[in-house]
Amino acid sequence: MTVSKHILLLPGDGIGPEVVAETVKIIEWFSENGPVKFTTSTSLLGGAAYDAVGTPFPEETVTNAKKSDAVLLGAVGGPKWESLPIAKRPEKGLLGIRKELALFANLRPAICFDALADASSLKHNIIAGLDIMIVRELTGGIYFGQPRGVETLPDGTRRGFNTEVYTSPEVERIGRVAFELAAKRGGRVCSVDKANVLECTEMWREEMIKLHQKEYPQLELSHMYVDNAAMQLVRNPKQFDVMVTTNMFGDILSDIASMLTGSLGMLPSASLGIAGTPGLYEPVHGSAPDIAGKGAANPIATILSFAMMLRYSFDLKPEADLLENAVKNVLAQGLRTGDIMQDGMKKVGTKEMGEAILKTLASSKRAAA
Ligand code: IPM
Ligand code: MG
Repeated sequence: MTVSKHILLLPGDGIGPEVVAETVKIIEWFSENGPVKFTTSTSLLGGAAYDAVGTPFPEETVTNAKKSDAVLLGAVGGPKWESLPIAKRPEKGLLGIRKELALFANLRPAICFDALADASSLKHNIIAGLDIMIVRELTGGIYFGQPRGVETLPDGTRRGFNTEVYTSPEVERIGRVAFELAAKRGGRVCSVDKANVLECTEMWREEMIKLHQKEYPQLELSHMYVDNAAMQLVRNPKQFDVMVTTNMFGDILSDIASMLTGSLGMLPSASLGIAGTPGLYEPVHGSAPDIAGKGAANPIATILSFAMMLRYSFDLKPEADLLENAVKNVLAQGLRTGDIMQDGMKKVGTKEMGEAILKTLASSKRAAA
């Protein structure tokens, strides 16, 4: 009997639909040529959902997501919706689905492909061979903490406030994800906090130490303040193996890390919850409204997000490796979208990049046969 898995597509806004469309072709290829059949359906999220049904986070999308085996998301947001109240903005759709599916662990690998070591704004020797994993807590912290809001005081002064809050079980479960990943990699976890100023993250550090001593004494745990971590990421990124941090710090550090790989257009991510919940896979880049609809976006971050889906949701390691190698090959052939373009390379659009990866997949299969 063939195993069949359902993937919910949430193309979203801006370049989202373009990069998801290329990834769908890859999904279809694996469905025809791999051990698992994939079916897909599409739901609304973000600005596209707001335009169609008046909310960035339709109930039906949640229902469909919960029924699926995994979710592939493009991007949400854009200038068109920036003047809406926060509750109606596209970003609410993304935050809503992360929270609704309780996807507390966000895995953001930053890997520098050899062919791109010169596309980064950093020197070749700093980033060549880079392979780090940022584990970002995704359903807590200041993103969701209460109280939050903006109030007007009697004297007319406006006061805005948000709350950074974590409980010990929240720290423990994200810590566990980081240690488990480290155990399969270099065995080193660096926990990033601001324990010198924020009590909440001082508690985070203490809980990480307890967890380490109790369950993972054989692995290495270090701690770093977030300001230093940001600096170390551009000074000597290869010192890190797995970094684990809060929602807000992870948001910032993962954007920095993306530039180590050459472009934000290269960085995939996986958001995982407890066993049995569908994982959500999305490129780290946003909706890039400036190039939306022009066929110029780099589909690689989304395609690599599907590779993460094969690995983490469907336990298809050989297929994930095959796809990651196909991407490597295409880059080695000199094909580049605008964001990673370099002298002497061939500039291609979204579709050409997707097709080149498909072709490479097909020929690697023939070579293996
Ligand atoms: C990300 C994005 C989101 C975040 C936005 C779009 C809400 O920046 O996934 O990193 O802040 O988490
Ligand atoms: Mg971000």
